[in-house]
Amino acid sequence: MQLRQVLFSQGFGTRRACDTLILHGEVQVGGQVLDDPAADLATDGLVFSVQGQPWAYRAKALLMLNKPPGYECSRKPRHHPSVLSLLPPPLRQRDVQPIGRLDEDTTGLLLLTDDGTLIHRLTSPKRHVPKVYVADCADALTPAQVAQLLDGVVLHDDPQPVRAAACQALGERQLQLTLTEGKYHQVKRMVAAVGNRVVALRRSAFGNLHLPDDLAAGQWRWVEPEHIAPGL
Ligand code: URA
Repeated sequence: MQLRQVLFSQGFGTRRACDTLILHGEVQVGGQVLDDPAADLATDGLVFSVQGQPWAYRAKALLMLNKPPGYECSRKPRHHPSVLSLLPPPLRQRDVQPIGRLDEDTTGLLLLTDDGTLIHRLTSPKRHVPKVYVADCADALTPAQVAQLLDGVVLHDDPQPVRAAACQALGERQLQLTLTEGKYHQVKRMVAAVGNRVVALRRSAFGNLHLPDDLAAGQWRWVEPEHIAPGL
């Protein structure tokens, strides 16, 4: 692939902006300045740097973000900044988008990608990809509430009951809940349906992927698709 196309595909601006970066000697490959936009490169394992910032070529971007509270999972946020504002410009330019949404006040594991097929696979209700949430509740949890969440509760917009694939109390007021669908405000509405209320919500896992302890709120990291679910 030509160097100009490499930069363009990785989100370093318009074709013209990429040519300018290259011609100005801002791009290095293997520690050497490469100032020919038409230079032909093998993309497999390619690492280059732009203005001193190292970047590994990836045909598709897939990353996890530890979402802080106060950010919206939308490209056009209404009341709070977008989670996309926490990513570096090349990823925003590549048009990465959240794989499913978390509420503005929900924290934890958010996946983002520019791979539309992957978004479809991971959000399709048919695939039943499990998502694990930890909810702090307003009132002490009862065994009956946990049992009801496992048996299924009816939400106002659908007569079909929704049930947690797994559910257990982690503490007097803390609940861990696994869902395999992604309905609007699903955890909050399910907990409300059993007579309690979520006061704080965090997603701790998506498929096989767990939020790493050392990923601080607001930080992101690359992900390999096979770490989320086999065969993706
Ligand atoms: N369920 C909710 O209620 N909110 C989220 O952000 C995610 C799941």
